[in-house]
Amino acid sequence: MAENFKLDLTHRPRRLRRTASLRALVEETVLRPQDFIAPLFVVEGKGRPEAIASMPGIFRLNLADLVKECRSLAKLGVPAVALFPKLDARLKDEDGTAALQEDGLILRAVRAVKKAVPEITVMTDIALDPYTTHGHDGVLTSARDDVANDRTVGILARMAVLHARAGVDLVAPSDMMDGRIGAIRKALDAASFTSTGIMAYSVKFASAYYGPFRDAVGSAKAAGTHLLGKGTYQLNPANRREAMIELVLDKAEGADILMVKPAGPYLDIIREVRNATNKPVAAYQVSGEYAQLHAAAKLGWLDLERTRHESLLAIKRAGADMILTYFAKDMAQALS
Ligand code: PBG
Repeated sequence: MAENFKLDLTHRPRRLRRTASLRALVEETVLRPQDFIAPLFVVEGKGRPEAIASMPGIFRLNLADLVKECRSLAKLGVPAVALFPKLDARLKDEDGTAALQEDGLILRAVRAVKKAVPEITVMTDIALDPYTTHGHDGVLTSARDDVANDRTVGILARMAVLHARAGVDLVAPSDMMDGRIGAIRKALDAASFTSTGIMAYSVKFASAYYGPFRDAVGSAKAAGTHLLGKGTYQLNPANRREAMIELVLDKAEGADILMVKPAGPYLDIIREVRNATNKPVAAYQVSGEYAQLHAAAKLGWLDLERTRHESLLAIKRAGADMILTYFAKDMAQALS
């Protein structure tokens, strides 16, 4: 009976999945090296690349190695890098004053990369967490129980101008203070950096997936004891409507590119953002998303190459035009 069972079907979607070439014809989403932005960590000195335990294959690089890495990324067709400094603990203070230092590590890194590899797009994080002893993205209120919004924005606007002067193509405010995009746009324009763009971390959630990154830049242990809750400025992962409020504000304040972060656990948000704007949408596949695939692969539980590809495909399919990912180089290599 089962062998003779027949359906009278007009529609058989499997017809288009029958052969590899048919499947290729109907493929809707394709990853390319130019979809990716590589986040890179930079350190002072001339030391060898420093491994980050929770991020296999990712290293903190000295300036010379950073330049080399940018050159090989450009050769592979990766169009952009996002630079993050890991500061010597002795340079950190309560107010993150090293962020406004004229010849700070990140500014030297930007100049070195733009000089050696001018064709690569360079963006830098605008936030104080690598510079503060407490690891928060801004300066604290006098009661020390919250980040002071407006005072922080004033500092970030000055920081953005310094970065623009060093030659970044895009500044990327990742702090989630109210009004920072408008203030930064105004400060850049006032200093005649009208061509320096803003990639806004518009929809950034207070996520547990940032853990490995905080190891990488040393912002996790900065406080020593208390937990690094960023819930008074980063979004509650439960809130979709509130995310859209942030998006609308950043758009109105002049962001050129709007970002959602993290990416994989927030595909619904990426899609919603995509539908709400014609501006380019970026998504950040964060350190914890990278770490979890590596951890499972190490245990032999997941295939790294395939899950890596699938995770990024899903982010692009959800609506991201560009993806910040620690897999950028591996992907560009695999795709070429
Ligand atoms: C901080 C910043 C964070 C990341 C990028 N910029 C961490 C945080 O908000 O604590 C996370 C990136 C990642 O996890 O890969 N301004």
